[in-house]
Amino acid sequence: MENALRFGLKTLADLDHLASKLAVSIPHQEDVSVLFESVPLPGGLTLPNRFVVHPMEGFDADPSGTPSELAFRRYRRYAEGGAALIWFEATAVVPEGRSNPAQFWMHAGNLPEYRRLVESTRAAGRAFFGDGPRPLLVLQLTHSGRYSKPEGTPVPMIAHHSAVLDPIHKLTLDTPLVTDEYLDRLQDAYVASARLARDAGFDGVDVKACHRYLVSELLASHHRENSRYGGSLENRARFLLETAAKIRDRVPEVFVTTRLNVFDAIPYPWGFGVSRDGFLSPDLSEPLQVIEALRKIGAPLLNHSIGNPYYNPHWGRPYDQPSVGVPVDRDRHPLQNTAHYFDITRRLQEANAGFPIIGGGYGWLREFAPPVMAALVAKKWVTLVGQGRNSFAYPEGIRDLRAQGAFDKRKVCITCSRCTQIMRDGGRTGCAIRDVEIYGKEYKEGRARAGAKTASA
Ligand SMILES: Cc1cc2nc3c(=O)[nH]c(=O)nc-3n(C[C@H](O)[C@H](O)[C@H](O)COP(=O)(O)O)c2cc1C
Ligand code: SF4
Repeated sequence: MENALRFGLKTLADLDHLASKLAVSIPHQEDVSVLFESVPLPGGLTLPNRFVVHPMEGFDADPSGTPSELAFRRYRRYAEGGAALIWFEATAVVPEGRSNPAQFWMHAGNLPEYRRLVESTRAAGRAFFGDGPRPLLVLQLTHSGRYSKPEGTPVPMIAHHSAVLDPIHKLTLDTPLVTDEYLDRLQDAYVASARLARDAGFDGVDVKACHRYLVSELLASHHRENSRYGGSLENRARFLLETAAKIRDRVPEVFVTTRLNVFDAIPYPWGFGVSRDGFLSPDLSEPLQVIEALRKIGAPLLNHSIGNPYYNPHWGRPYDQPSVGVPVDRDRHPLQNTAHYFDITRRLQEANAGFPIIGGGYGWLREFAPPVMAALVAKKWVTLVGQGRNSFAYPEGIRDLRAQGAFDKRKVCITCSRCTQIMRDGGRTGCAIRDVEIYGKEYKEGRARAGAKTASA
C-alpha cells in the first residue's frame, strides 16, 4: 500500500494517468517560457522571473543568532541558481521566540553579519542576472509561540488552548497564555526587526503568519477570552494587521507582506480557514478578508501555506516518506494533496486577479514540476512559483531549466523528509540526498544522537 503512494512516474502521460485515476486536475504544458517572464509588482518593483525560494530554516546560526558560513553558502547557491525572489528563513524577533538555539535571530549586535549576508547573496545573483534586474530579498520575521525552544527544550508560548494540539505537547490548562500586554510589546519588536532588516539591505519583510507559530495561532484564537487578540476576526487578525501597518508607516523603505496559513486543516474552533462543517474542507472567506486588508496596507505580493509541519505536514509538503513519528497519510495520495494545494492557490489568485500570489506544493512532482507550474501560470491560477525542499536539493534547477528546457531528474528533491529529520534531530539542515557531503553527514549524526537519546531514556 505504501508503495502505491510513492512517486513512480516516468512520463507526463503517467502523471495524466494517475491524475485521472485519482480524479484530480494537474494541468501541464510543454512551453515553460512563461516562467521566465518578468513580473511587475504593485508599488513599482519588478521580479526578473517567476521563481521564488520559499523560506527554509537551516538551523546553522551560532547561539547569538548570527548566520554561519553554511548559511552564506545556502543563500549564495539560491541566488546563483536564478531565483527572482529569495524569501529568507524564519528569523526570530526576540530570543524567547526562537524555535531552536541555532535559528536566525537578528539584533543590533549582529547586524553587520546580516548586512554581509545580503551583500553576498546579491553579488551571487549577478552571476545569473548580470547587471539586469536583481532578485528581491525578503526576510521572514517570526515568533515561534507554541513551538518556542530557545535553549533546545520546549518553552511553549501559546495564544490559546487547543484541544487538538495541547495534548500532543502535553500542555494542560495550567499553561499560561501570552498576555495582551506581551503582544502589544511584541508588535514593537517586529517593527524594530523591520528597521534592522532595512539596515541590512533587505527589500521587504514578512510578518510570518503560517504553520501555527504565534501569529498563525492568533488567527485561530476564537476562544481567547477577554482579549483584544481573540474572538472576532478583527481581533484575531489584529496582531498581523496592526504590525504590518506599523512597519509600513515607520519603516517605509522596506515593503511588508506575510506568509499566511490559509487552511490549517485543524477542526474549528482551533483551526483557521477551515469549514465549520468539516475541517478537511477549506473555508477561505476569512483568509480572503485578511488578504484584502493586507493589500490595503500596501503588501505588494503574498505568500501562503497550508497545514502544520508538526501535526499534518502532508497538506503543505506532500512527500513520499514522512519524518520519524509522523504517520503516513494512507487516506490521501500525495498527488491529491498536491492538487488540493493548487486548488486553494487558484481560489486565492482568482479572488485577487492581478495581485501576485506565490504558489507552493510543486515538490512531489519532481522533474515534472516546471511544465505544471507553467500551465498553472498560463491559466492565471497563480503568479509566482515557490519551491522549498527542491531549493535545498537543486538550487541550480532554474538555471538548468533555462538552458535545457527541463529539470534534471537526477538532481531533483525526492521528498524523503531527511532535511526535516535533521532539523528534528537538532542538526544543521539541507539536502541529505543531493548535497550529501555536508548534509548526509548531518543526517547520520542526528540519527545517531536520537538513537543514543532513546537508548538512554
Ligand atoms: C527543513 C525545512 C525548513 C523550513 N523552514 C521554513 C521557514 O523558515 N519558514 C516557512 O515559512 N516555511 C518553512 N518551511 C516550509 C517550506 O517553506 C515549504 O513550505 C515546504 O517545504 C513545502 O514546500 P515544498 O514542497 O516546495 O518543499 C521549511 C521546510 C523544511 C523542510
Ligand atoms: S533531504 Fe533532500 S531529497 Fe529529501 S526531502 Fe529534503 S531536500 Fe528533498
